[in-house]
Amino acid sequence: MSALFQINDLAVSFPGRDQTVYAVNGLSLAVEAGEWLGVVGESGSGKSVSLLASLQLLSATSRIDRGQVWFDGRDLLRLKRRPLREILGRQIGVIFQNLANGLDPSMRVGQQVMEPMLAHAICTKPEARRRALDLLTELGLSDPERQFERYPFELSGGMRQRAMMAVALAAEPALLIADEPTTALDTTVQLQVLSVLQEACRRRQMTVIMVTHDLGVATNVCDRVVVMYGGQVMENAEIDTFIQASVHPYTQGLKGSMIPLNGTHAPIQAIEGSAEIFHQVPRGCPFVARCPVAFERCHTERPRLLSLADGHEAACHRVEEATARVG
Ligand SMILES: Nc1ncnc2c1ncn2[C@@H]1O[C@H](COP(=O)(O)OP(=O)(O)OP(=O)(O)O)[C@@H](O)[C@H]1O
Ligand code: SF4
Ligand SMILES: [Mg+2]
Repeated sequence: MSALFQINDLAVSFPGRDQTVYAVNGLSLAVEAGEWLGVVGESGSGKSVSLLASLQLLSATSRIDRGQVWFDGRDLLRLKRRPLREILGRQIGVIFQNLANGLDPSMRVGQQVMEPMLAHAICTKPEARRRALDLLTELGLSDPERQFERYPFELSGGMRQRAMMAVALAAEPALLIADEPTTALDTTVQLQVLSVLQEACRRRQMTVIMVTHDLGVATNVCDRVVVMYGGQVMENAEIDTFIQASVHPYTQGLKGSMIPLNGTHAPIQAIEGSAEIFHQVPRGCPFVARCPVAFERCHTERPRLLSLADGHEAACHRVEEATARVG
C-alpha cells in the first residue's frame, strides 16, 4: 500500500540572533489511506513544529533545512501559496490548538463552517448552510441553529472545539491533521469531543494524524503510533505492539510515566528531566543525556530507524545490537 501523506527526512530550525534551535532533525513518517496515526512524545519533542512545517504553516522565523512532504503526488514544501491553499481545507483538514485558536473571532460560527465549502466551490450557499447545520448537529452542538449565528467568544470551550472540527471537516477532506484537539478541555468534555470526532471521521473513512501527549488517547483511537523525541522518530509501532512489545528506552520511559495501560498498579517511573532544546543538530542519539541505558556509541552515532518486524521500527543502538545478537 502506498502512503497518503509522507514526510521524508524533514529538518526544521529556528535561527536566533545568538543561537539556533534545531527542532526537527531528520523526521520521516507516513500514513496510509484510512489509517489513524498517533504522534506522541513529551512537550518540546517537535510534534507541532514538524506538522506545521509540513503544511508550510510555521512562522517566518523558522527555516526548513531539508526534506519533502508528499501528498497526492506533490511535495507540499515546494508548492506556492495558491496551490497549497487549494489543498489545505479541501483535501487536508487541520485542527491546531495554537493556530490563532482556529476560529476567526469576528465571524459567525456558521459562516466559518460554510467558508471551506464556498471557497472551494463545493456547493451553493443554501446547500452550504444546510450542510453546515448538519455538521454542527453531527458534532454534538446543541441547538445548532442558534450556535450557527453566534460568534466564537459566545461558545464554551467544548463547543468552540466542536465548531473548529466542523470547519476542518466541512470540505470533506481525505486527511485530518489534529494537533492536541482536545487537550485544553476538561477530561469529561475531552472524551465526549474525541468520541464525536472519531465517529465523524470514521463515517467519512478519513485518514487521521493525531498529535497527543496522552498515550491513553493514542492507544484508544489510533491504529499506529509514532514516538518522537528531539525532532526524530524513536519508535513506530502498531497499537498492539506499542502496548505489549515496545522496545525503545524512550517509549518505555513515556509508558512508565503514565498510569499503566493494562490496568495493573505498577509504580510510575517517570523519565528524568525534560525534553531538551537542541542548539546543535544532535550528533548521536537525541535521547542520550537522559537514557538510562546509553553507552559510548550513543554519543557519537545517530541510530538509524531499524525495521524489527512488519510495521515495527525503532531507532536505538541497544535494540540494534540485541537484534544483531539474536539474528
Ligand atoms: N518559534 C519558535 N522559536 C524557537 N524555537 C521554537 C519555536 N517554536 C518551537 N520551538 C522549539 O521547537 C521545539 C519543538 O517544539 P514543538 O512545539 O514542536 O513541541 P511539541 O512536541 O509540539 O510540544 P507540546 O507537546 O508542548 O505541544 C522545542 O524545543 C521548542 O522550544
Ligand atoms: S541509542 Fe543509546 S541513548 Fe539512544 S535510546 Fe538507544 S541506548 Fe539510549
Ligand atoms: Mg505541540
